[in-house]
Amino acid sequence: MNYKFIVFEGIDGSGKTTQSKMLSNKIKGVYTYEPTEGDIGKVIRGALSGKRAYRKETLALLFAADRMEHVPIIKEMLKNKHVVCDRYLYSSMVYQSIQGVELDFIININKFSIRPDVLIFLDVDIEESINRMGKRDKEIFENREMLELVSKKYYEIIKNKVFEPKYGYIIIDTSKKTIEDVHNEIIENLRDKGIL
Ligand code: TMP
Repeated sequence: MNYKFIVFEGIDGSGKTTQSKMLSNKIKGVYTYEPTEGDIGKVIRGALSGKRAYRKETLALLFAADRMEHVPIIKEMLKNKHVVCDRYLYSSMVYQSIQGVELDFIININKFSIRPDVLIFLDVDIEESINRMGKRDKEIFENREMLELVSKKYYEIIKNKVFEPKYGYIIIDTSKKTIEDVHNEIIENLRDKGIL
């Protein structure tokens, strides 16, 4: 069996986490995410909460270091199961380049990353994204201006096929759709592409 590496990306509040967990359950895969719960991931979470400020390049290196520890684990898991990853290298390309880090620098420090089979990009109306996030404490990237930039940048990365996944992209607008509908649409698209 050839197990697949499926990556979810999208702006905050797009339903990525809910959908990646649902898909992973459905296909009996493993759910994993970035930033991870490892030591470096914990440092990153401190930076995201605004508790600790780092230079933008340092943050890019921290995300890459966290991923460097994660990739061998993903490779190992792919021997036995499909792997569904909630955020991956594309998040670095999008968020860190918006912060002003050169895309080439981001790509270079992430050279070890394995290519996913497919990238599922969940889009959502910015208003709906903000509503979905509700009143919870916001991380540094969770504001309207940033969400708009993030959405635009994802489309740019996808249009330019930067680090194109083997089976390409699945793009779904989750605004005004139920969780079940989005889940079914994802499954249908994966079947159409011959991934499932
Ligand atoms: P999460 O909210 O999906 O847990 O992700 C945490 C935040 O980290 C999110 O705002 C996106 C950001 N992020 C980056 O800036 N670069 C990265 O490489 C990754 C994986 C996440």
